[in-house]
Amino acid sequence: MKTIQEIFDKFSDIQASEKRDDFTLPFFEKEIIVKNVGFTYPDSVLPTLNDVNFTIKKGKKYALIGPSGSGKTTLLNILFGRLKSTQGEIYYDSYTYEELRTSLFQRIAYVEQNSVIFSGSIIENITLGKEYDENKIKNILSSVDLLDWVEQQAEGLMTLIDWEGNMLSGGQKQKIGIARALFLEKDIIFLDESLSAIDKVSVQNIEQCLLKKTDATVVLITHHLTPEIENLLDGIIEI
Ligand SMILES: Nc1ncnc2c1ncn2[C@@H]1O[C@H](COP(=O)(O)OP(=O)(O)OP(=O)(O)O)[C@@H](O)[C@H]1O
Ligand SMILES: [Mg+2]
Repeated sequence: MKTIQEIFDKFSDIQASEKRDDFTLPFFEKEIIVKNVGFTYPDSVLPTLNDVNFTIKKGKKYALIGPSGSGKTTLLNILFGRLKSTQGEIYYDSYTYEELRTSLFQRIAYVEQNSVIFSGSIIENITLGKEYDENKIKNILSSVDLLDWVEQQAEGLMTLIDWEGNMLSGGQKQKIGIARALFLEKDIIFLDESLSAIDKVSVQNIEQCLLKKTDATVVLITHHLTPEIENLLDGIIEI
């Protein structure tokens, strides 16, 4: 049987961890440090990631590059909290990965090739039902190069998107994903440009608009590192 003191100690632990998960605070102010991180899928013999080291500074922009199968998506899934590294440490300022893992997905926007689209209007897909200011939405849509397209739709922001967004191109889905991340003011945005890519011009437009957002911390997986993109980057992470 537990003593009252033990229960009280446990309660203090829970309170402490809840404090770390206070979503009104930015979860990192300075940097994310990835230290000696390795990962082996449960049914694999060989590791997918081995001794990966890099630092992400707040507000900076990075490209994550490497050959197909080198583990880029796996690495973003670890930073997003979907997978747990099997070696090494990750620090978000002084917090450890363990302390934050269950809340990482609330702080990070992971815009995948096939961004999740809900059955609902364009605006609902961006705000997820939260209150919004029309000018703010227009600024965001313009920054992701979607405003003209939205304004061409019969019902504008209220236009309904069918189930799974079949009426949208891969690029439009990603742009809606980025617009959602910007509206929800996520601390970090990951963009995973898969190889089965939408056309190159569209990809580069999406990347450029994201890299020009001064206040966002961005990591993008890119397969086409053009001089234009490289100029907008603060660092390249190669795995
Ligand atoms: N769920 C899984 N179970 C086992 N192995 C996996 C799983 N997902 C990915 N892998 C393997 O891990 C390695 C890295 O995959 P990952 O998708 O992270 O690569 P990537 O660098 O993103 O590749 P691409 O550029 O093609 O998207 C690959 O060899 C892949 O086969
Ligand atoms: Mg990938």
